[in-house]
Amino acid sequence: MQFSIKAQSPEKIPAGCLVLGAHLPGDAGGALARAAQSADRAAGGALRRALAQGDLSPKAGSTLLLHGVPGIAAKRVLIVSLGERREYGVAAFRDAIRGAAGALKGIGAKDAALLVADFAVAGRGLPWAVRNAVLGMREAFYRFDQLKTQKKPPAPALGALTLALATGPVTLQAQAALKEAVATADGVDLARTLGNLPPNVCTPSYLADEARKLARQFKLGVEVLERRDMERLGMGALLSVTAGSRQPPKLIVLRYDGAAKSKKPRAPQLALVGKGITFDTGGISLKPGAEMDEMKFDMSGAGSVLGALRALAGMRAHVNVVGIIPTCENMPGGAATRPGDIVTTLSGQTVEILNTDAEGRLILCDALTYSERFSPEAVVDIATLTGACVIALGHVASGLFANDQGLADAIRAAGDDAWDRVWQMPLWEDYQEQLRSNFADMANIGGRPAGSVTAACYLARFTKKLKWAHLDVAGTAWKSGREKGSTGRPVPLLVRLALRRSGRK
Ligand code: BES
Ligand code: MN
Ligand code: ZN
Repeated sequence: MQFSIKAQSPEKIPAGCLVLGAHLPGDAGGALARAAQSADRAAGGALRRALAQGDLSPKAGSTLLLHGVPGIAAKRVLIVSLGERREYGVAAFRDAIRGAAGALKGIGAKDAALLVADFAVAGRGLPWAVRNAVLGMREAFYRFDQLKTQKKPPAPALGALTLALATGPVTLQAQAALKEAVATADGVDLARTLGNLPPNVCTPSYLADEARKLARQFKLGVEVLERRDMERLGMGALLSVTAGSRQPPKLIVLRYDGAAKSKKPRAPQLALVGKGITFDTGGISLKPGAEMDEMKFDMSGAGSVLGALRALAGMRAHVNVVGIIPTCENMPGGAATRPGDIVTTLSGQTVEILNTDAEGRLILCDALTYSERFSPEAVVDIATLTGACVIALGHVASGLFANDQGLADAIRAAGDDAWDRVWQMPLWEDYQEQLRSNFADMANIGGRPAGSVTAACYLARFTKKLKWAHLDVAGTAWKSGREKGSTGRPVPLLVRLALRRSGRK
């Protein structure tokens, strides 16, 4: 989908479909948003009259399609309900974009123009509306059907979308927002596709190849550590997780250096560490069978790191970021780690593995220790870490834990801005005693109470030298049920965070 921004009177835009907004309920005259009103004047009031028929439901995202409206160059006009004017906010914005996308799919429009300023949310500005209109449209038109031999229905293709401004000029900020949004959408798509790929395809080696491909395409630095490198370094925790698998483990390091060369310390402003379990059976502590297929999404943290780097490189962001991805499978088998095994982590601390299904923290702790060598200003790990986080926060907010409140605040602000929200959870010392072990420095599980907190507390023991935050995305990285599939979260948050650290608003 090609996106562009243009300043042009709405009635003159020669698109296949002109998309405009109206606030309902309301008297037909006042209902149309601003630029839409000028289109209505050109149409001699035809849009108002159509609304007055009462054919458009007030629910935000409902649509009304009109053909051959006199005075309007576009072939069709799609009026999208924005809901009540007083209640219009981000939620209604998203419903409206989704509704518009659904209707455009339905009519198979090849190209469309959307009066983006009419959709803007008070207090968020035009660049925000541009970014989120693009992301919303790309999300709605995303398809994952490469493994279906019969594609029914054939993929509807909206070739071009113009974000139309009734009045100029098209500001530099709006142009930058468009570029940022398209690159971010490319990153989200990559994360979604990696998540959706089956675990017999998306293996640790596949992720490493994907990282190498990104490195070639965007001139990134890449290094892949193999099992023997991990053995030499002493990554006993990571190695214990991969022990039952026939797939070789990888530790992927991908560097994007976009900050000005004059920036003396080349130390990255941000290190992103993503959990890359390409399939989580639970290991010897085997998971129950129901919905186990969803554990292919257990590499979503890794996917989001690759997606965020792709986005930042694609928009040439002025920031240095290093991505670190520990990736392997968690399988049972004769060589698999047993409950009761004690391993030595890269940090030197020993861990009694009481449950082999608490494997994410085991690969992350070694990767977090490894991140120290890059001296990053801040480290954020992203992991589908605990079912307990899904119980606590559902599918709306990702869990946020941090050993630095400034970093936590920055992540929360980036998440609000990207509408990819997080909720901070405690990381108090009081929880640490749940990780006590009779035989090693710590256990890898802390019992049922506060399961997402004790998982974070475990990681905190490996990040004392770092400014660190942890995002538990177990509830937000994918959807179950009929709409089963990867969401690409939290790529939008990560991109916004990196951009804000680069000084860009
Ligand atoms: N990948 C899972 C977490 C998960 C579970 C994500 C369900 C999404 C939905 C993780 O490796 C895991 O198995 N965690 C255990 C930890 C427990 C053994 C302490 C869990 O949450 O049950
Ligand atoms: Mn597990
Ligand atoms: Zn897992």
